[in-house]
Amino acid sequence: MKKKNEKILIVDDEKFIRMALNEALRSWDYSPVEAGSVAEALRVFDEEEPAVVLLDIDLPDGSGLDILNEIKHRRPETIAVMITGNIGVENTVAALRGGAHGFIGKPVKLEELEVTLRNALETRHLRREVQNVRSERATKFSFEQIIGDSQAMKKAKELALRIAQSDVSSILLQGETGTGKDLFAKAIHYASERANSPYLAINCAALPATLIESELFGYEKGAFSDAKQRKEGLFEQAQGGTIFLDEIGEMELALQAKLLRVLENGVFRRVGGLKDIPLDARIVAASNQNLKKAGEAGTFRLDLYFRLSVIQIDIPPLRSRGDDIIQLAMHYIDKANHKRKGKKLKGLSKDVAAIFKSYEWSGNVRELRNVIERASILEDGEYVTTTHLPADLLMAHTADGGNSRSGITLPEGGIPLETVEFELARQAVERTAGNLTQAAKLLDISRDQLRYKLRKSGDYEGSAKGE
Ligand SMILES: Nc1ncnc2c1ncn2[C@@H]1O[C@H](COP(=O)(O)OP(=O)(O)OP(=O)(O)O)[C@@H](O)[C@H]1O
Ligand SMILES: [Mg+2]
Repeated sequence: MKKKNEKILIVDDEKFIRMALNEALRSWDYSPVEAGSVAEALRVFDEEEPAVVLLDIDLPDGSGLDILNEIKHRRPETIAVMITGNIGVENTVAALRGGAHGFIGKPVKLEELEVTLRNALETRHLRREVQNVRSERATKFSFEQIIGDSQAMKKAKELALRIAQSDVSSILLQGETGTGKDLFAKAIHYASERANSPYLAINCAALPATLIESELFGYEKGAFSDAKQRKEGLFEQAQGGTIFLDEIGEMELALQAKLLRVLENGVFRRVGGLKDIPLDARIVAASNQNLKKAGEAGTFRLDLYFRLSVIQIDIPPLRSRGDDIIQLAMHYIDKANHKRKGKKLKGLSKDVAAIFKSYEWSGNVRELRNVIERASILEDGEYVTTTHLPADLLMAHTADGGNSRSGITLPEGGIPLETVEFELARQAVERTAGNLTQAAKLLDISRDQLRYKLRKSGDYEGSAKGE
């Protein structure tokens, strides 16, 4: 990992020592620079910005420790190695406190110096890489990346940021599917003091309860027949970090009780274990159902709900977010343009913008993303037109369609009448759960007429129940 020509500053008042070190460093392909005093060292340090500084302690105009403090202040990532004959305990402690990377005795053994330098530089590279990855992640998952300036969204983001930076230990995110609960959970983690500790997620709907329990709590060897050895759970692995409990509404009642106990007492035990282990992770739980209602209906523990909802963030559905819809559409259009060179979609046609603003968006941002992705593949023009919107969206566009009394608007690019007929017939069948008699009534036609229309479109034949 060693880079050639890394700059190294030698600070020593003895010229011969500097010369000897200089020669050795050159032979290992470093670029040495020299200084003989505190003042000179700081000047050269600023000019040359060395990666490593080799520091003698006794200097004519002061101590190497002063240099250490000053360079760590100016550029904390600099590596300082103290080179010294007899360094007392006091100085050693001071040097370590000041952030010295290590010590090399005088007379300097060259092999020792070489190894120390190599390790120090490697540490520095690793540290930098970790820092880069961290800051990349923190940017990627920041609240700024969550699109939407509507009042509702601004309020949710501001609240979430304040909570993220507080010391609360559990948070409930509630919002319909596709509203961005995942994004919020990550943004909360990366905006908190926990950002450099793990972020671990578990989906309570995806695993059986016993597995979730052992994933969260861990287990002792022999706790159950498959427990060949002790395993740490997420509660332990996430030390200092955040655990995301997705779809908590799906968690089994018995496990809910155990989770509540952990939240109340701040300690947990591994499955089969006797020792209380303090919980040092923040729990962020998410649900797309209304947990209070679920509680009242008996499918969720009300006591757990009350505990979690002390700090609750409601993420607003897309339909109530006004211009966010257009902003998000533009975001996904930009992305599509980026992905497919040669595509240059400029935006939404007026009709489409109007439909988007009045549509229900029951799948929220996820649904919007899919609609734009589809349209951007199919659309040849500069604007997304109604021609390439899914039929569902066109049909649902009823209430304030503007220029139609029936509430149905002819798409800009036109649409085959048969498609409309079939789509409405299909929806009628769907709404009546396959009861053709009722479905026909909705359309004010006879049951036979409905069957004929369904059959005509081929692929629907036989799929309706109620025959
Ligand atoms: N405000 C937003 N800005 C940008 N992208 C968003 C926003 N909200 C949601 N998304 C995107 O929409 C998709 C769905 O979001 P996410 O997975 O966070 O939803 P969710 O609330 O967790 O849904 P579910 O309840 O289904 O798990 C993701 O691709 C996410 O990146
Ligand atoms: Mg989710």
